[in-house]
Amino acid sequence: MTQPRKLFIKTYGCQMNVYDSERMAEALGVNGYVTTDRADDADMILLNTCHIREKAAEKVYSELGRLRPLKDLNPDLRIGIAGCVAQAEGEEILRRAPVVDLVVGPQTYHRLPEMEIAMRGGARPVDTDFPQEDKFEHLPKGPRARRGPTAFLTVQEGCDKFCAFCVVPYTRGTEVSRPAERLLREARDLVDRGVREITLLGQNVNGYHGAGTDGKAWTLARLVRALAEIPELWRIRYTTSHPNDMTDDLIEAHGDLDKLMPYLHLPVQSGSDAILKAMNRKHTAADYLRLLDRLRAVRPDLALSGDFIVGFPGETDQDFEDTLTLVRNVGYHSAFSFKYSARPGTPAAERPVLPDSVLDARLHTLQSLITEQQRAAQEAMVGREVSVLFEKPGRMPGQMVGKTEYLHAVHVTGQPGGSQAAPGTLQRVRITASSTNSLAGEAL
Ligand code: 5AD
Ligand code: SF4
Repeated sequence: MTQPRKLFIKTYGCQMNVYDSERMAEALGVNGYVTTDRADDADMILLNTCHIREKAAEKVYSELGRLRPLKDLNPDLRIGIAGCVAQAEGEEILRRAPVVDLVVGPQTYHRLPEMEIAMRGGARPVDTDFPQEDKFEHLPKGPRARRGPTAFLTVQEGCDKFCAFCVVPYTRGTEVSRPAERLLREARDLVDRGVREITLLGQNVNGYHGAGTDGKAWTLARLVRALAEIPELWRIRYTTSHPNDMTDDLIEAHGDLDKLMPYLHLPVQSGSDAILKAMNRKHTAADYLRLLDRLRAVRPDLALSGDFIVGFPGETDQDFEDTLTLVRNVGYHSAFSFKYSARPGTPAAERPVLPDSVLDARLHTLQSLITEQQRAAQEAMVGREVSVLFEKPGRMPGQMVGKTEYLHAVHVTGQPGGSQAAPGTLQRVRITASSTNSLAGEAL
């Protein structure tokens, strides 16, 4: 019997890439590949790339430089580039990096099995189409393996918002929502395989408007309510949202659906109205704060997370101060901040950039404030009772690691009866201590 070929996938960027990488592994499973977690053991390496900032894209080329010697050790090794760099650069990658054998964009990876055969035949296939067919429906189905307790489910892809700095509308295309009933079917299947928490993914997930068989469009709120009817599905999250698509029905769902977790990633990008306008965000800082008031009115313990860009072209000291003021007003549980990175093809890339020293200083100031808020939010959990979904055993005997409803990582000791609990258990826990990146707690 021939040995199965081994596939190593390295994933960059967002959670949607994590989901896509899993699907790619399943698709190549049909060609006899099994996954490995070692690049030097692989017969095929796929880099599932991110193009959101320049640094993210450059990482791919440096990684290719590191991988090249592996081809001398294993003449059978083939290297593919998937994801948003593949979409944005296409054929150019083959010219710039002779080591690359295959290029596949985020909308065509269901064609990977055929592409892999062509590649083994000596071709260097490139496919960066935006095809008509739904890739998820055309993905070859692998064996239905048992799953861990948490899973991602892509419900929507692409973005029509065209923020002036962002490549997503170009790399992932216009907004497409997957049909609601198919998603419910996929969710039930995940739950049958052991999943207890599903995070719905989309570049603009709350703009979800999937077709239903009754001809009526589904909103994200309706989808979440339908998912909440699945008995063994205990937790639902969604990410990433745009403030302008936080509709009344979704706000209401946060108020009355226990299974919808009290954590929301809602990027605002800047606290300055002038910069928000230049970014084409189509909302003001006050609109954002009013929206949070409405959300907190129905769910007072809602933990908030956000994204910020510092040093957008034209950002003055006062604009940056306005961002700090907004962050102070909100009180984030966690937040991500980035230096502005000019992306070719986006409107903002035409504008003069600020000196890197300004960007560095602003990033440092903002990150210090956010880190302080994160620490305060974590410390406020000490003494509180939370629910934790166990994901895996910890390093200490009897310890389990999981997440609270607010998405904090917790190391839990003292399982009832002294026994080791199973992953997928939902446990009441009292938080006893807070350290930099996680909490400690005792099972109740
Ligand atoms: N430069 C810096 N950060 C960016 N983001 C998106 N595009 C850029 C860019 N050109 C950030 C935004 C977005 C997050 C995913 O990445 O904050 O919400
Ligand atoms: Fe990019 Fe998000 Fe703006 Fe869409 S809403 S253009 S994905 S930053």
